[in-house]
Amino acid sequence: MSTIPILRLGAIKNVQRFKEHLHSLSLNIPCDDELLAGPESSIRWPLLRGGFKFTNRIAVQPMEGWDALADGNPSEYTLRRWRRFGSSGASLIWGGEAVAVSHEGRANPNQLVLAPHTFAGLAALRVTLLQSYRETTGRDDKPVVGLQLTHSGRFCRPNVHDRPEPKILYHHPILDPRLGVPADSPVLTDEQIAGIVRDFHRAARAAWELGFDFVDIKHCHGYLGHEFLSAHTRPGRYGGSFQNRTRFLREVVEGIRSFAPGLQISVRLSAFDTVPFRPDPETSSPGKLGIGIPEPHAHLIPYHWGFSVNSACPTEMDLSETIQFLALLEHLEIRLVNLTAGSPYYNPHIQRPAFYPPSDGYQPPEDPIVGVARQLAVARQLKSQFPQLILVGTAFSYLQDFLPHVAQAALREGWVDFVGLGRMVLSYPGLLFDASEGRSIQHRLVCRTFSDCTTAPRKGLPSGCYPLDHYYKASELAAKLKSAKAR
Ligand SMILES: Cc1cc2nc3c(=O)[nH]c(=O)nc-3n(C[C@H](O)[C@H](O)[C@H](O)COP(=O)(O)O)c2cc1C
Ligand code: SF4
Repeated sequence: MSTIPILRLGAIKNVQRFKEHLHSLSLNIPCDDELLAGPESSIRWPLLRGGFKFTNRIAVQPMEGWDALADGNPSEYTLRRWRRFGSSGASLIWGGEAVAVSHEGRANPNQLVLAPHTFAGLAALRVTLLQSYRETTGRDDKPVVGLQLTHSGRFCRPNVHDRPEPKILYHHPILDPRLGVPADSPVLTDEQIAGIVRDFHRAARAAWELGFDFVDIKHCHGYLGHEFLSAHTRPGRYGGSFQNRTRFLREVVEGIRSFAPGLQISVRLSAFDTVPFRPDPETSSPGKLGIGIPEPHAHLIPYHWGFSVNSACPTEMDLSETIQFLALLEHLEIRLVNLTAGSPYYNPHIQRPAFYPPSDGYQPPEDPIVGVARQLAVARQLKSQFPQLILVGTAFSYLQDFLPHVAQAALREGWVDFVGLGRMVLSYPGLLFDASEGRSIQHRLVCRTFSDCTTAPRKGLPSGCYPLDHYYKASELAAKLKSAKAR
């Protein structure tokens, strides 16, 4: 729990009081008093755009698993998670989770990999999801299902969960020391990048053959695609100018269009960022993380190591290149875009606002609802500038019991085209489906942002909602997590 005063949303008993809370913090978050059901609910509005047909506005966000088999095939845990994704009734499944295009590119030794020996396993995930969607909704239509393709770049850990094996594009003055990257260690060469581009082509072709509707070329959270966008200091074809920093995207897209011509492409983007944060030693004590503060960066101005940050004051965003990037996506005829922010590794409070920090994080430096409002405001601005894109908004889970009220208002007022659900899907996949069916909300399943789904993998355990999902809550894993946290 934080040491700055934060009103726990679980303690707020009604929408009126929630709106007063927003008002007291001067936050502009749309919120409906009443939830509507059926076609009257904006959550149930269909959408026909960019060659896609959606039956509602619920999206399941990608959530990386730490529970695949060592060879990159899904395990029983993975299958169960995809079954639950399907039971959300969402008409857009954004990748389910990040799938590595090669073993070396895995973010953890239990991440899914797209390779010939995993084709059958990945196909089974999709089939399981479609079946559970049909059982939940009673409908014969199919949700639009994609695969998020990724190479983890700086955050690769393909072999041992606590041994980073970073593949970097440039040296970062703050992140290199954190990851133990020596100053003279080599960066990925242009030839190695060409090999990674080919891996994306192969993976996309396979996803197409397996029946997925789209692939996401992940450009967020500090992974390789995102790192390209901030490669200001890299010399050569992939660094420096905006044109060079987006070459990777253009090369991946060009190949996919020729190898998998019927496949749609999407991009998940960290639309803004800030410098890496760390716990303040002044407020830290044994067993208790300090409040998050930015790493010292006064000596690094102008700041050249971020995307969409103000180089004169890098704790502030500058959306000019984000706007340029979205214009490029339109030019490339990519219509499906998912907006997120920052990175879970170096500034989790802007990426997934939470009341309780993950074990490698820090106490919230702001009321987490400020982080929700920030992501929503950026999504709203970009939506108004790019009305033809299909934009998925992110970071709704912190809203907890008021998520459906905000979702309904944000969709009706056109702030976003889809409400993307991350953590909430792990604890309560059907929240928005229930709300828009007129069913009562199961409050005991509402995600309270305990962050165990992030802490568990940091300790080498499978991701899942340990506090609220009975499957984990009552398992041996819960005991293991408890003892790992105590250490
Ligand atoms: C356990 C976990 C795994 C995640 N893995 C991914 C991932 O593979 N790809 C991705 O783009 N985002 C990933 N995210 C981020 C979520 O998609 C989402 O952006 C974030 O949780 C904020 O949304 P929320 O407030 O609904 O949770 C992950 C989040 C969690 C909690
Ligand atoms: S562990 Fe469960 S309650 Fe905690 S943040 Fe994750 S999904 Fe939410």
